[in-house]
Amino acid sequence: MSAPADVPALVASTLDLSRQRGFITSTRHETGRLLAALAASREGTLAELGTGCGVGSAWLSSGARKGARIVTAEVDPALAEEVQKLFADVENVDVVAGDWTTLEQYAPFSLLFVDVREVMESIDVLADLLETGGIAVLDDFEPSTSWPPIVDGQVDGVREQWLTDDRFTAVEMLIDPDASLLIATRR
Ligand SMILES: C[S@@+](CC[C@H](N)C(=O)[O-])C[C@H]1O[C@@H](n2cnc3c(N)ncnc32)[C@H](O)[C@@H]1O
Repeated sequence: MSAPADVPALVASTLDLSRQRGFITSTRHETGRLLAALAASREGTLAELGTGCGVGSAWLSSGARKGARIVTAEVDPALAEEVQKLFADVENVDVVAGDWTTLEQYAPFSLLFVDVREVMESIDVLADLLETGGIAVLDDFEPSTSWPPIVDGQVDGVREQWLTDDRFTAVEMLIDPDASLLIATRR
């Protein structure tokens, strides 16, 4: 049995690709393990916006139930092609080359991993992509102890909006002393 410190083989392959490409914004282990745990509670279609080197998709795939499907979009065509090769034999993941909006056709989603900062501003569109009870995970925030959240001397309006929007029950979680994420469940 593998120790908790080990990562699934597919995750290790995506981390290798990240290193080869010098891609420094791949999902960290703590977030990946959370994605896998959440994926294990989901049915239907799970989506990721911003594939990068495929780390998040690999974690989602490792936790996903039988019959669940993961779709992920990457706007950089060369990167998408490399990740498509990595996932060629992975039955529950489809890597789509294109803007995140190309995934709208596969909605509604039971889980939506939003990993592109600018996309988080589109809360109305994202809310409509989630089924009732669906979970949005928004990554890469700088922890803030104040309310409203302040980063670099300015109110983080996107985080404030997600944490107060009536369509969601949301929480900010500290992943590391220097990083947090939001979990928002569609009501
Ligand atoms: C933070 S990285 C994603 C990391 C990845 N989710 C992981 O788990 O390691 C953001 C990625 O989103 C891609 N991206 C940026 N804008 C995009 C868009 N409009 N649609 C789809 N992908 C986009 C970038 O090219 C980049 O690869």
